[in-house]
Amino acid sequence: MKIFVTGGAGFIGSNFIRYTLGCKKGYRVVNYDKLTYAGNLANLQSVSDDPNYSFVRGDICDAAAVEAAMQGCAAVVHFAAESHVDRSIYEPAPVIQTNVTGTFIMLQIARKLGIERFVHISTDEVYGDMALGAFADEDSKLEPSSPYSASKAASDLLVRSYFRTYGFPGIITRSSNNYGPYQFPEKFLPLMISNALDGKPLPIYGDGKQQRDWLHVEDNCRGVLAVLEKGRVGEAYNIGGTDVEENIDVARRLLKLTGRSESLLSYVKDRPGHDRRYALRCRKMEQELGWTPKISLEDGLRQTIEWYKNNGEWLAAVRAGDYLTYYDQYYVNRDSSLHAISTGTKISD
Ligand code: NAD
Ligand code: TYD
Repeated sequence: MKIFVTGGAGFIGSNFIRYTLGCKKGYRVVNYDKLTYAGNLANLQSVSDDPNYSFVRGDICDAAAVEAAMQGCAAVVHFAAESHVDRSIYEPAPVIQTNVTGTFIMLQIARKLGIERFVHISTDEVYGDMALGAFADEDSKLEPSSPYSASKAASDLLVRSYFRTYGFPGIITRSSNNYGPYQFPEKFLPLMISNALDGKPLPIYGDGKQQRDWLHVEDNCRGVLAVLEKGRVGEAYNIGGTDVEENIDVARRLLKLTGRSESLLSYVKDRPGHDRRYALRCRKMEQELGWTPKISLEDGLRQTIEWYKNNGEWLAAVRAGDYLTYYDQYYVNRDSSLHAISTGTKISD
């Protein structure tokens, strides 16, 4: 089977490609990626010479390029997105363009080419803030809070509408917060791990009592592959992790695992519209597809910290250049950047 993977140079996409080529001998993968700041071909070095792997640089918003690259593929796994909530708050335009318009173009081309299965990778954030103790299942209301989660909910609804209207073979996965190797250090865990390893402060938003459902990326890749092979078209599948924990507790755990002092914890101004809790119930994955997450947060954190320690060159390369400007805007000058947002003074589109 030849699979068209979008966003395969990013964190989850690259883990998915390595995982799939490693365990599925009959599969070929075309990785279609624009290589934004988050796309990194170094993530795929270990498969770059594999005859079952090829790479095409392109934008999912470019219909002609997508159509040319998707020829001959039987299935699509659509990871490509602008994936960071904080960036979506500062600069929503590229998020809406890629996540909504890009997904629309992907659906149009996939329909035109008669793709047999289209797995759309979404997120638990489409359900919005969960009450303490509550869990979202696939029928829960979509109540996104950020421009990012709203754009993902919009794209989920497009996939759903294509199934209902055209009988299009779309399936949606909604996973919780992924962590693991090759994650760009803008999301919580890789940022905290890389700062802890450097002995730099760990910026905790607000009171740090927000809860997230942590999923090791390898568990997610196994789940996405199960959905691709055995999921029912027209359905959505939640893919959640083993632990729902408060950010501050996760930060404390990793300080302990890295041998750093809790004096590195640094409370900073909260993210606007910050969701307090995400938590998933994953009965469909368990009962229909026999999937459960296997890697506990404690084991996964240990492994991930080791990976970052052993891949200093990878980390140094992604933390150079634009990342420094990013870090200044979002962390060093956090109060003035957030003030500009709250008063409507334009930072960017
Ligand atoms: P990422 O930011 O690490 O990677 C995104 C990839 O998409 C990059 O390689 C980038 O170059 C590519 N891309 C961006 N815009 C593109 C465009 N217009 N055309 C082609 N390629 C483009 O993201 P990730 O963390 O790997 O997330 C992958 C998917 O999983 C996303 O759809 C995201 O919404 C979803 N998701 C992520 C998480 C998480 O914890 N990271 C959780 C749930 C769902
Ligand atoms: P993040 O990785 O951005 O994922 P999400 O999409 O779930 O918001 O953030 C995870 C949690 O960590 C979220 O509650 C925000 C918080 N957070 C911090 O406290 N400090 C940080 O520097 C970052 C990036 C996130």
